[in-house]
Amino acid sequence: MSAPNLENSAPSTEHRPAEFIPWLEYFRSNPAYHRLIEAGIDWDAPLTLDPGTIQAFARSFQRFELGESGEGKRLLAKAALHDDPVYLAALELLVREEQKHSALFGRGLQHLRAPSLDAHWSDGVFTFLRRRLGLRTELGLFLIVESVAMGYFTALAEAAPDPVLRGIGRRIAIDERNHIRFQIDRLRRGFAHTPRAGKLLMGLTWTAIAAGSAAVLVVDHGPALRACGLSPLRYWRDAMREFGRAARLVLGNGAPEPLGPVANDFR
Ligand SMILES: [Fe+2]
Ligand SMILES: [Fe+2]
Repeated sequence: MSAPNLENSAPSTEHRPAEFIPWLEYFRSNPAYHRLIEAGIDWDAPLTLDPGTIQAFARSFQRFELGESGEGKRLLAKAALHDDPVYLAALELLVREEQKHSALFGRGLQHLRAPSLDAHWSDGVFTFLRRRLGLRTELGLFLIVESVAMGYFTALAEAAPDPVLRGIGRRIAIDERNHIRFQIDRLRRGFAHTPRAGKLLMGLTWTAIAAGSAAVLVVDHGPALRACGLSPLRYWRDAMREFGRAARLVLGNGAPEPLGPVANDFR
C-alpha cells in the first residue's frame, strides 16, 4: 500500500475565493484595535516583582521575542504559489502581527530590565523543520505551536503578578485566538479531500509533535507558568486539550463551514 500523499494539495480548488475576505478585513482593522489596547497598558508602572520572578519572566519573554520575530518569507512564498491573493494578503498581515508580538515581548523585557537573546535552540529546531516543509504542513506546525502556547498567553493575561505583563498577555491572547481560527479555516480546506487514513495518520503525527512542543514549552517557561499559578503538568494537559480541539476541527468529519474571526474582546 502506498503512503497517502500528505503534502500535495490542489490549491485553487481548496476554497472559494471569497472565503478569506472576512479574514482580510479583520486583519486590516486590527491595528486600530491594537493601539487602543496598548494605550490602556500602564507601561510606566513600577516593577515590584522579586528578582526570582523577574528572572522567570525575563527568560520566558526572551524566547517568545525570538520565536515570533520571523519575517515569514518562506511561508509567504509557499502561500503565493496557491493562487489566492486574498488569503495571501491576510497571511501577510498575520505575519506582521507576529512581529508585533515579538516587539511587545521586547517591550516587556525593557520593563523587566532584561536583555534580548540572539538565538535559542528550540527556535532553531522549529525554523529548521519549517524550511523543509510544504505550505499545508508548515501551517499545521503553526497551528500546533499556537494552540499549545495559547494557554500561556491567557495565563499571562489573567494571572501574571504585574500589570504590564498582564497587559502584554491580554494584547497577544486576543490576536492568538483568531490566529488559531485562521489556521483552522485554511487547513480544514487543505484536508477536505484527504482520505480518512491520511487524516488519521496526520492526526497521530500532529499529536506526537504537539506533545513534544508542549513539553518544550513547560520546560522553557515552567518558572513563568508557576509564577502565574500553573503547574507544568496541568499546563501540558490543558495545552493538549486545546490542541485536540483545533486538530479535530481540521481533521474531523463534517462541519464544513469556515469559523471566521471572532469579535475583538477578551474576557
Ligand atoms: Fe504570536
Ligand atoms: Fe499567532
